[in-house]
Amino acid sequence: MINLNSLACTTIWHHGPISFKTQPRHARGMRDSSEWLPTAYRSHTIGQVVTNGGDMVGSQVTLAGYAETVRGRGGVCFVMLRDGTGRIQAFLKRDAMDESVFESIQSSSRESTISVTGVVAKKRPPKTPEGSSPPPPEYEVSVSSAEILAVADAPLPVGVIDDVNVGLDVRLDNRHLDVRRAHVNAMFQLRSKVLQYGREHLIKEGFSEMNSPKIIASASEGGTNLFPMMYFDTPAYLSQSPQLYKQLAVLGGLERVFEIGPAFRAEKHDTYRHLNEFVSFDIEAAWCDDEDVMGVLERMIHSIWSRVAADDQDLVDIINTYRGTQGMEPVIVEIPELPFPRIPYDDAIEIVKDGGGDIEWGDDIESHHCDLIASKYPGFHFIPRWPMSMKPFYIHHKEGEMGSTGSQLSRGFDLNYGRDEMTSGGQREHRVEILEQNLRDMDLDPDDFSFYTDGFRYGAPPHAGWGLGVARLLMVLTGAGNVREVVLFPRDRSRVTP
Ligand code: AMO
Repeated sequence: MINLNSLACTTIWHHGPISFKTQPRHARGMRDSSEWLPTAYRSHTIGQVVTNGGDMVGSQVTLAGYAETVRGRGGVCFVMLRDGTGRIQAFLKRDAMDESVFESIQSSSRESTISVTGVVAKKRPPKTPEGSSPPPPEYEVSVSSAEILAVADAPLPVGVIDDVNVGLDVRLDNRHLDVRRAHVNAMFQLRSKVLQYGREHLIKEGFSEMNSPKIIASASEGGTNLFPMMYFDTPAYLSQSPQLYKQLAVLGGLERVFEIGPAFRAEKHDTYRHLNEFVSFDIEAAWCDDEDVMGVLERMIHSIWSRVAADDQDLVDIINTYRGTQGMEPVIVEIPELPFPRIPYDDAIEIVKDGGGDIEWGDDIESHHCDLIASKYPGFHFIPRWPMSMKPFYIHHKEGEMGSTGSQLSRGFDLNYGRDEMTSGGQREHRVEILEQNLRDMDLDPDDFSFYTDGFRYGAPPHAGWGLGVARLLMVLTGAGNVREVVLFPRDRSRVTP
């Protein structure tokens, strides 16, 4: 273990001051670790050495990582060491270090964790054909001491660098290894970026982050798909959505709120896009109608796509390298144009009918119908103004705003991409008498919702919001064909571990 006190007061790690901050994240898949400080187990990240090798030749470093490959016989051994920021070759010589340690490393299994201390050296450049320009210099560590931190079992149930053909179930059973694969790792780094960029965009638009309870007493989206639980001696449920609480926060004067949190649905779906626990990215905003919050949503997605295109193409490239090996088309981060098309429900029904789809006004627009709409509007598109009869009790309607068959329309909307719904949202009903009537119309008892309806009795701003399925958005960005690909530990009907 490195003594951090000695780290702080010596300069053994490099010969002079190195400004990691100025170095770009250039190597493919390398997480920007320029500002990561030394830890008990390493003086530098591998990414820092790979990026700054030119300035570090001759410096002593301690690195730690997974042994991706271990090669060499007799007196030499080459370990390809990988941490979360990059990979580097460690060069070990039997006569330059403790012999028993050398031997244990030479015979160590792939993915064992190892720490090495040694000096940064420039690798001998590979021979290049005459006339061609030499490749950029690469660096390695010439090791003087090392330690195996934990030995990996062999064989690995999921190959980390080999393209072993195992199914999604085996991968999910071994997610701890699956995530070490470069393209899977890249997907989860992108997931983190999407949440970060979304969060930062909303904060810029004046939203503040909130957290709602996940143990609740009554349903927000209708009563049929809740997971029941016992809360001490009282029956309770896991929350389906932060819906009622984000509204209460706005009614309480928080004006503009967002929440990124789990939602639980006891639905017996078995599809590529449904989970029983998913992360919902929600907003709610006072003094807004449905059109206002559709604007927030399209600007947020535009901002996420723009920032990924500007700063994270290396992650997309890693995904595309993998897709290339599987014969799949590359994913392209095309920044969507603003505004996104709006196709009111009435028009969407006509498009489906014109395309030969079997649908009537008042029916849900299902995936196969969405295919017909997507053939005309392939990117993100909104479907506003659904029939009021199809929307939850909290959705607002304007009296006299009727659909093509003369029935009442709502101020609810969806955002779709291709055949998939990304978001639903709408303007909310802020008039308490109508809210209570909506509850009764939907066979719900207003008394069960008094904790919510009471929030409307002392002056309620008109307000609107939406809920976005994070995994569904990630499917679009990463080209994943299944939400399970972009959820670390998915929960579906047949999976509750790991
Ligand atoms: P809704 O129920 O449509 O609306 O959910 C919002 C978004 O969440 C995602 N989603 C799911 N993702 C994975 N698995 C599921 N089982 C699942 N169910 C939903 C979808 C969907 O568009 N309270 C409203 C939102 C609002 O009006 O603000 C609500 O929860 O991407």
